[in-house]
Amino acid sequence: MQDKDLAAVVTHSGGSYPILVGLGLLDKIGDHLPHLGIVGPVYIISDDRVFPSYGRQAQHSLHRSNIEAHCFIAPSGEQSKSLQLAEAIYNWLAERRAERGHAVIAVGGGVVGDLAGFVASTFVRGMPFVQVPTSMAAMVDASIGGKVAVNLSQGKNLVGSFYQPRMVLADVATLSTLGRRELAEGWAEAIKHGLILDGELFDIFEEHAEDLMAMKPDISTEVIRRSMAIKAQVVSEDERETLGRRILLNYGHTIGHAIEAATGYGQYLHGEAVSVGMMGAALISQRMGMMSEEAVNRQRRLLERFNLPTSAPDVEAGEVFRAMSLDKKTERGSIRWVLLEDVGRAVVRRDVPTEIVEQTVLSLLAG
Ligand SMILES: NC(=O)c1ccc[n+]([C@@H]2O[C@H](COP(=O)([O-])OP(=O)(O)OC[C@H]3O[C@@H](n4cnc5c(N)ncnc54)[C@H](O)[C@@H]3O)[C@@H](O)[C@H]2O)c1
Repeated sequence: MQDKDLAAVVTHSGGSYPILVGLGLLDKIGDHLPHLGIVGPVYIISDDRVFPSYGRQAQHSLHRSNIEAHCFIAPSGEQSKSLQLAEAIYNWLAERRAERGHAVIAVGGGVVGDLAGFVASTFVRGMPFVQVPTSMAAMVDASIGGKVAVNLSQGKNLVGSFYQPRMVLADVATLSTLGRRELAEGWAEAIKHGLILDGELFDIFEEHAEDLMAMKPDISTEVIRRSMAIKAQVVSEDERETLGRRILLNYGHTIGHAIEAATGYGQYLHGEAVSVGMMGAALISQRMGMMSEEAVNRQRRLLERFNLPTSAPDVEAGEVFRAMSLDKKTERGSIRWVLLEDVGRAVVRRDVPTEIVEQTVLSLLAG
């Protein structure tokens, strides 16, 4: 393994896995798999937007290393994270006589990663699994930490498990074909990592915002690498979200999820809703006397430089409150708020008065 590409190692109850980040790594995937004991056949799962360029590229690299690689191409989009599609992949794997010693490789965004991981965790009671994230959101967030799932009509990610990959391989070159909006929403999650745990990373974002939006290769690779390392560290400390550490990654998500639900998951991309939600959490932190106005403004200014929304003037307040109270029920009554004491210092609080939450949400929705 080329150490220069190693950004982090995730440790978990069953072992550990490397996170490789760099430019042009997809062409080398065939070199890496044998080091993990994966010699094939492998089953690439991708979607119809990603496969023609990157799925195919991965397949060619595998063939050059004499690893037999079959490909399943799902329709792109959230609807593919379904039990029906999982079943179609089970049938496809069964027809090809896939076995526990073979491996599944997810090449795509978070949808493909969650779906392929879910299939890998269940087919023949578990097959080795490799994540090759190609969207910014999948790189800095979804591919790390082993949460795999499909959706039900009653809700997102209702059926799934924790199932860790054997490796995460992120080729930053793949991000060149993402749209600007998709890029920015992915950066929102990376900015979040700086806000909750790494003030220096936030400084780097401030210094290079425009270069990062333009995906200048060196600085983008460095920032993605650092952001992925933060997620790797947090999930290593709290594999199953039971120790109060992994919850920090939910900064901005309480209000963000409610905005997504209130708008039927169509209007705001996830990272955009999280951006508004992070502004809500920062304002709550300020109103609780924990965070300075200057720090709140730093957060707002940076999000704006990434073209991310910091308010949601077109969203119905009643719907947002309804969605938040539904969320609350699942957490047995009290919302655990992830708030900031400063840039880079997150804490969890259960004692936020309802009036502060209401005032804050109303001010966000007033624009
Ligand atoms: N498992 C986790 O911990 C975790 C964390 C966050 C999000 N998620 C899940 O991830 C999903 C969202 O991920 P996403 O934002 O990557 O969505 P996605 O997988 O739907 O990708 C977004 C779009 O970008 C396309 N795309 C991906 N890579 C591309 C590239 N390099 N060039 C051009 N187009 C490309 C996809 O085909 C898709 O149309 C959700 O289902 C969410 O629940 C999971």
